[in-house]
Amino acid sequence: MNKGFIFDLDGVIVDTAKYHYIAWKKLADEMAIDFTEEHNEQLKGVSRLRSLDILLGIGGVKKSESEKQLLAKRKNDWYLTLIEQLTSKDILPGAERFIKEASQKSIKIALGSASKNALFILNKLGIDSLFDARIDGTHVSKAKPDPEVFLKAAESLGLPNENCLVFEDAQAGIEAAQNANMKCIGIGNNQVLKGAQLVVSGLDQITVSQAMEVLNSNILK
Ligand code: BG6
Ligand code: MG
Repeated sequence: MNKGFIFDLDGVIVDTAKYHYIAWKKLADEMAIDFTEEHNEQLKGVSRLRSLDILLGIGGVKKSESEKQLLAKRKNDWYLTLIEQLTSKDILPGAERFIKEASQKSIKIALGSASKNALFILNKLGIDSLFDARIDGTHVSKAKPDPEVFLKAAESLGLPNENCLVFEDAQAGIEAAQNANMKCIGIGNNQVLKGAQLVVSGLDQITVSQAMEVLNSNILK
């Protein structure tokens, strides 16, 4: 089939946001920045360095570029320690079944993640082999909402952009899909996520046939 599904990772396939939060919070505490779980919502889908800029902005703290690199590395080292324990049990409900079913129906499967740790995480979850293409934070120079990550994923699958359907939990990711001229299914709360063709609370709440109806419909929001 000449159709593809492109999956974001964090928040769609695995709930890593809590670990990102713990690591950012530790860094924030060290700099006496009052960083809350609500603030953490702003970091979803956003690259590591952009996340750090948002955090520093919340605290009104200025750092040089070299200091920022060191701070981002410190955060990532803590984050890596936290996600070291990930196993297949951490895959979000329905995600593995949904991807396998799509694959059985000959839909091509790609990863489109901002994370530079994406391959490490896929291996920990034991689902790396389910993907025909894997585009992550190491392949892109522009962060979501720039469409680069999804355009590269479609290209890797050898498919036109409009033949691909994106699954995203972050507003920045939904906007990236729109900017790539791709339809998108939002994963999360439909009061929060705007601009997706459909929003469901998780991949356990949708069938592959329903997703294909979204991809094949003519309405592009
Ligand atoms: C995204 C997460 O998937 O990856 C963001 O939603 C995170 O919260 C970004 O900042 C970058 O992740 P990493 O693993 O490269 O620091
Ligand atoms: Mg995400």
